[in-house]
Amino acid sequence: MKKLVILISGRGSNMEAIVRACASEGWPAQVAAVIANRPDAAGLAFAASRGIATAVVDHRQFPDRDSFDAALAEQIDIFGPDLVTLAGFMRVLTARFVDHYAGRMLNVHPSLLPSFPGLKTHQQALDAGVRLHGASVHFVTSQLDHGPIVAQSAVPVVAGDTAATLAARVLATEHIIYPRAVRWFVEGRLALEDSRVTLTPPEPQWLFAGHTAGEGA
Ligand code: GAR
Repeated sequence: MKKLVILISGRGSNMEAIVRACASEGWPAQVAAVIANRPDAAGLAFAASRGIATAVVDHRQFPDRDSFDAALAEQIDIFGPDLVTLAGFMRVLTARFVDHYAGRMLNVHPSLLPSFPGLKTHQQALDAGVRLHGASVHFVTSQLDHGPIVAQSAVPVVAGDTAATLAARVLATEHIIYPRAVRWFVEGRLALEDSRVTLTPPEPQWLFAGHTAGEGA
């Protein structure tokens, strides 16, 4: 049984998708804990309601990134995770922290990486005029929003889109590709070679999601 620790900062809808898929699909894994860097992270209530251990390591209580990351790693390691998943965890992590979880930490980012790292990715996509946007699940490296890509989803950008409509369209696909990628990890099907990810046995590591009727033009 693999152990997962999920880190959140807010709503936690990706965490919820992982928790639900883990239970309903009978993964050889258990969500051991959900940890937030904000005491008001809404997702903590869902985790607690499912009987999952929760913890808060409030970044505002620490003078710098090094001390926060050290305390966070200490809290995470109490649960002995095989995999740490960042699910809307909005903190830049130090190289030391990232190295500690090398090869066992995944993130979901709301863009087709390597396009649009950082914040406000949906507005970045609108400003750039791209016709396809999406999300990426990747192994975390010390370079922000970079790292070997496990899965990607693509959605169209349609007339009248705003950052909010685009975010909703992308988020719906995150809820599909992120649990799928975590499942591949816990099933031991992912291998890292030269910064590229191989899935064995292979299956599509992408998702194309058209927009639904009534949504945009
Ligand atoms: C998601 O869209 C996720 O991709 C994004 O924050 C949102 C969190 O939603 N993450 C990042 O931007 C990280 N760079 P959630 O809390 O409902 O899962």
